[in-house]
Amino acid sequence: MKYRMKYITRRRFIKSGTAVAVGMSLYPDIARGAGIETGKVKIGIVGTGNRGTSLLRSLLPLNNVEIMSVCDLDESRALNAATLCEKSGRVRPNVYGKTVSAYKEMLDRERLDAVIIATYWDSHTSIAIDVMNRGIYPGIEVPAALTVNDTWQLVETSEKTGIPCMMLENWSFRQDNLALLNMKRLGMFGEIVHCHCAHSHDCIDHWFFDKKTGQQRWPAEYLLNYNRDQYPTHSVGPILSWMDINRGDIFTEIYSTASASKGINAYFTRKFGDAHPNAKIPWKQGDIVTSTLKTKMGKTLVINYDMQLPRPYSNRWLLQGTKGVYDEEKGSIYLINQTPEYHEWEPWKPYEKQYNHKWWRTDHSAQSHGGTDFVMLSQFVEAVQNKKSTPIDVYDSAVMTAIVELSGISIEKNAPVPFPDFTKGKWQTNQPYFALDM
Ligand SMILES: NC(=O)c1ccc[n+]([C@@H]2O[C@H](COP(=O)([O-])OP(=O)(O)OC[C@H]3O[C@@H](n4cnc5c(N)ncnc54)[C@H](O)[C@@H]3O)[C@@H](O)[C@H]2O)c1
Repeated sequence: MKYRMKYITRRRFIKSGTAVAVGMSLYPDIARGAGIETGKVKIGIVGTGNRGTSLLRSLLPLNNVEIMSVCDLDESRALNAATLCEKSGRVRPNVYGKTVSAYKEMLDRERLDAVIIATYWDSHTSIAIDVMNRGIYPGIEVPAALTVNDTWQLVETSEKTGIPCMMLENWSFRQDNLALLNMKRLGMFGEIVHCHCAHSHDCIDHWFFDKKTGQQRWPAEYLLNYNRDQYPTHSVGPILSWMDINRGDIFTEIYSTASASKGINAYFTRKFGDAHPNAKIPWKQGDIVTSTLKTKMGKTLVINYDMQLPRPYSNRWLLQGTKGVYDEEKGSIYLINQTPEYHEWEPWKPYEKQYNHKWWRTDHSAQSHGGTDFVMLSQFVEAVQNKKSTPIDVYDSAVMTAIVELSGISIEKNAPVPFPDFTKGKWQTNQPYFALDM
């Protein structure tokens, strides 16, 4: 069923020369709300590249959303997204694009409740701020910002406008991670003492560079100019709740170190030969970054950035407390009051099943990223629909995001650097919030 009246984008409107014919102004008040089923969350997407399109696919099965508009610098991508939407049986969304600021026109003309931002890293913060300033919920792809200053701006804009701001950190919503959170909340690990995590994902051959030609894609610029944990959020996301960060505890300092940069040159030599320019460039980004974070309550966390050496994917999550340990890479667990054999691992999967989180009672595994994106977006949309806080709030988004710049500063100084308290002291009284409906 189609609910929304068709609308011609301003660009097509001008091109088609129909403005006078239909007696509308240059900025026609589009059929805002007309024909739209009430109660549905009206969504716009900025950035319909790989990730934006994948998020759109995950939104399509949700009955409580209307995809109102899509926007991309590359018009063909926005048009493809609109077609994808239409082919699914929905109303074709309005298309915006061609300029970096076209999204503003979209924000001003569509009556949106939420905007998904899946653009290049350097535009996330400014778009999210514009979105919040118009009273709209932003769902920002990772990382939400590139500097601590920009991270503060997100926090302050969210506080000033009262609009919740969520970074779309999908791995926090994984079935295994949520089951583990349930177990942690039941006290099965005792007091949490230490965690480890990694983003071990060889992205050289498809994300930083073009697979066929080896040409630099936009993220490669960061490997050239920075040496830091470029992508900490997938690894740290679930850990924030395991360690009660921003709710009873906070990170106080981060100390990062980086290995030499060998992987990128080696990849290009192997695949394209010595003569390829990328085989010789002195990339600034070290292959493995190791960051150690301390918390106020004496916990420690080790994070590895590991995205440019050949290897299978892994997040190497580990949670260790006074009553036991969970090791994701081993697929194993050891709990003093449960595990049958003293000091022997037992399989994790039966625990995942037994302590399955409510959000995973239905099988979503056919969806992208094994259903994780669907679970995340369902929760985000529900928050927007009920005008409540998003499952990941601006403070948790800020902590994950700030690691990017702070790790770089620490590597540069070869010294620990203080971690900002984005909650301004509220961490002491804030209660656990994420995924409480076990
Ligand atoms: N959560 C995940 O699992 C996951 C996976 C992949 C990528 N990502 C994140 O998604 C984001 C996008 O990555 P990608 O791989 O899709 O990149 P991409 O290059 O495929 O897509 C980015 C799109 O944004 C568009 N764009 C850039 N600036 C714009 C602007 N001002 N207005 C409109 N459109 C604009 C580009 O034209 C492009 O089509 C990044 O932040 C990345 O870190 C997240």
